[in-house]
Amino acid sequence: MSDPLLKVNKLHTFFTTNDGAVHAVRGVSFHVYEGEIVGIVGESGSGKTALAKSILQLHDPRFSSTPTGEVNFAGADLLSLNTQSMNLIRGNDISMIFQDPMASLNPTMKIGEQLIEGYLAHNKLVHRGAAIQKALRLLEQVGIELPGDRFEMYPHQLSGGMRQRVMIAMAMMCSPKLLIADEPTTALDVTIQAQILRLIESLKTTVLLITHDIGVVASICTRVIVMYGGTIVEDASRDEILYSPKHPYTKRLLESIPMLNQNERLLPIEGTPPLLTKHEKGCPFAPRCQEKIDICNEIPPQLTLNETGRRVACHLQQSKLLEIHRK
Ligand SMILES: Nc1ncnc2c1ncn2[C@@H]1O[C@H](COP(=O)(O)OP(=O)(O)OP(=O)(O)O)[C@@H](O)[C@H]1O
Ligand SMILES: [Mg+2]
Repeated sequence: MSDPLLKVNKLHTFFTTNDGAVHAVRGVSFHVYEGEIVGIVGESGSGKTALAKSILQLHDPRFSSTPTGEVNFAGADLLSLNTQSMNLIRGNDISMIFQDPMASLNPTMKIGEQLIEGYLAHNKLVHRGAAIQKALRLLEQVGIELPGDRFEMYPHQLSGGMRQRVMIAMAMMCSPKLLIADEPTTALDVTIQAQILRLIESLKTTVLLITHDIGVVASICTRVIVMYGGTIVEDASRDEILYSPKHPYTKRLLESIPMLNQNERLLPIEGTPPLLTKHEKGCPFAPRCQEKIDICNEIPPQLTLNETGRRVACHLQQSKLLEIHRK
């Protein structure tokens, strides 16, 4: 197998708040290979956005310390780059799509100008005419009719679905090697949601797709990383996660989706997620886990790789594996 495009190793992110330091990302490690569409799922507050922003160093330094650990992208150590070098990577090699396109688009600037602005800044030798042609082609590719007309419009003149398409076109302008999409479809109705997911799939680029909805990743992801309390609790292929989840939290997450739940009944996960200002001993999911064993309250489980390449951070799973090996 070739080298991973993205290697994240022991990444930690802290925010400063009035309630104390929030340890939002807690030693997260994972790899993404070229061509993969990796879903990152987990409840609200599990650290998904903090992780994505840490990869791109997008946090406001007034409220967050610089993430520690390693983020290696195509051989470059991103955490050691200065602002100028990081700016060259952002929007060029790695693009990010945010949940709320209205907050990311400039309301006072026409769509067309916004599409070509970053592209021209990154490609000094490209003529404006060529940039416009590329933008029009991309608008067409993301399913926007009459792209020439839309080009001259302001964001408020477009529907929510169209704005999200424009954001995707904008993210694709520089042909990024990696696209990070943070809840790209949450604000959209189900039909548009499905269209946007198909669109992301058709881009044929490497994608990190963040969502709290495992049903969304089920439809297009090749692999799924499950986050809980700022840590990765499970990392496996889409089918392994959907059809044989190992971590009790992943199982509960799947049960909570009507689409995948035979009873068609949404089962909320009882209890509340851990406060990330605190560090409890033991497994972060232990207080809500119905399968916990004694050790779970005492020692945090390690994310352990098994023979098939899937990773699970669960004492119960690890003890079962030991049993199998002993026999
Ligand atoms: N700028 C910030 N300042 C202080 N705390 C923050 C900041 N951003 C995030 N946090 C905290 O970090 C933790 C992780 O938040 P994050 O936004 O990454 O969660 P998430 O998994 O993306 O949730 P959601 O599904 O709601 O988007 C939460 O406890 C959150 O309150
Ligand atoms: Mg988020």
